[in-house]
Amino acid sequence: MSKRQPNEVLPASPGSAVDAPAVMSLEGKVALVTGASSGIGRAIALAYAAAGADVVLTYRTNRRGADETADGARAAGRRVESIRADVAVEADVDALADTLRRTFGRVDVWVNNAGADILTGDAARLSRTEKLDRLLAVDLRGTVLASWKAVELMQVQPAGGVILNMSWDHVLGGGLKSEYAQVFCAAKGGVYSFSRALAHSVAPLIRVNVLGPGWIETAYGSELDPAVKQRISTKIPLGRWGTPADIANAAVYLASDAAAYVTGLMLMINGGGVV
Ligand SMILES: NC(=O)c1ccc[n+]([C@@H]2O[C@H](COP(=O)([O-])OP(=O)(O)OC[C@H]3O[C@@H](n4cnc5c(N)ncnc54)[C@H](OP(=O)(O)O)[C@@H]3O)[C@@H](O)[C@H]2O)c1
Repeated sequence: MSKRQPNEVLPASPGSAVDAPAVMSLEGKVALVTGASSGIGRAIALAYAAAGADVVLTYRTNRRGADETADGARAAGRRVESIRADVAVEADVDALADTLRRTFGRVDVWVNNAGADILTGDAARLSRTEKLDRLLAVDLRGTVLASWKAVELMQVQPAGGVILNMSWDHVLGGGLKSEYAQVFCAAKGGVYSFSRALAHSVAPLIRVNVLGPGWIETAYGSELDPAVKQRISTKIPLGRWGTPADIANAAVYLASDAAAYVTGLMLMINGGGVV
């Protein structure tokens, strides 16, 4: 990693390469990222590896995607473990923690990124109650269970650790005028509130923060009508959709010592779409 002065400005986003100053290095840390077989989770896992961390990544169905992420992280010279886990299943979450104990003996950064897709493919045809149940089981309950496991591991580590949970910028703005926004706000609003309560409980040893993405180019965005996408862009002050790398850069910051005095925060990465 190149030597930079601590106050030197980082390269402008959107970028994929993390070229961080020393205070943002994750050298020597072990980071776990759930749902790293695609999209934002993959970008975070790769950014963590680029910033110096060894990485444990999880997937549920997309083994090939997880392998691609793992190969990318290994190419950065890091040790990588890939584990299948459904975060809606408590036994899987427990097994995740057991694997961490066995393989690395600790975890410094735990990112609960995994989120159910209720928008594309077969899931788009679920009833609204089924969508609600799935989001609550995966995004909310899965995040709570996994956060508790992270705390269990981190509270016996002298250096503690960092937990990052994935919410949505719209939970602060009331969402949009749609059923889809209501169910997302129900689940992601819970993630936001839970994380703030947890941050109080586990300070000062463990920091807990929340990522609040806005409109980010992942699977959902790629299936949207270009005219709709363009209309959304015009409502974003920074004039474009976000990239997974935009979220990953924020995730590196919050995991690093640069954010040593930051806990209980939701960092919105949304081009100003919700302020
Ligand atoms: N994209 C956006 O605009 C946006 C905005 C706000 C918040 N977010 C949040 O950001 C996170 C990542 O979203 P994304 O757009 O990158 O989605 P994505 O590409 O669909 O990735 C979702 C990841 O979660 C995993 N996953 C799904 N269900 C799971 C389960 N039950 N247990 C464990 N893992 C599971 C998937 O694994 P497999 O594919 O291997 O099954 C995949 O790796 C989600 O929490 C999402 O709600 C996204």
